[in-house]
Amino acid sequence: MATERTLSIIKPDATKRNLTGIINSKFEAAGLRIVAQKRIQMTKAQAGVFYAVHKERPFFDELTTFMTSEPVVVQVLEGEDAILKNREVMGATNPAEAADGTIRKEFALSLGENSVHGSDAPETAAVEIAYFFSGLELVG
Ligand code: CMP
Repeated sequence: MATERTLSIIKPDATKRNLTGIINSKFEAAGLRIVAQKRIQMTKAQAGVFYAVHKERPFFDELTTFMTSEPVVVQVLEGEDAILKNREVMGATNPAEAADGTIRKEFALSLGENSVHGSDAPETAAVEIAYFFSGLELVG
């Protein structure tokens, strides 16, 4: 096992419902340390760059409109196997398929409004962390 960092976003459906604290407590209970965190409101252009890999998907406009509809909390989670561990804590992308006890099972409203985002691999984690944070902001 290796210590990793992953990029997490608490999405507008969750920040709007005041769920930031309870979601953070689930990360911490799983052994993930929040080593950077800030609340921001993205522009459509910023969200479009972040989700550029989905640019050709039919849901791209819905996704970027949603992600800019309210503030989000962007954060860096650190821990042993943090990328996989975070994906386990989040649960499946579609809340209808998410396991009991996961964030998406408990809080997500739909496939689009699914409360959290997490990096899916070390390469994407590095790019996604650098998109929102400078090295000086990562305080392990
Ligand atoms: P996320 O992990 O943030 O990565 C891309 C997001 O696109 C995903 O979570 C979902 O919230 C969203 N998404 C994926 N498929 C669809 C879809 N069919 N309709 C709307 N949103 C989607």
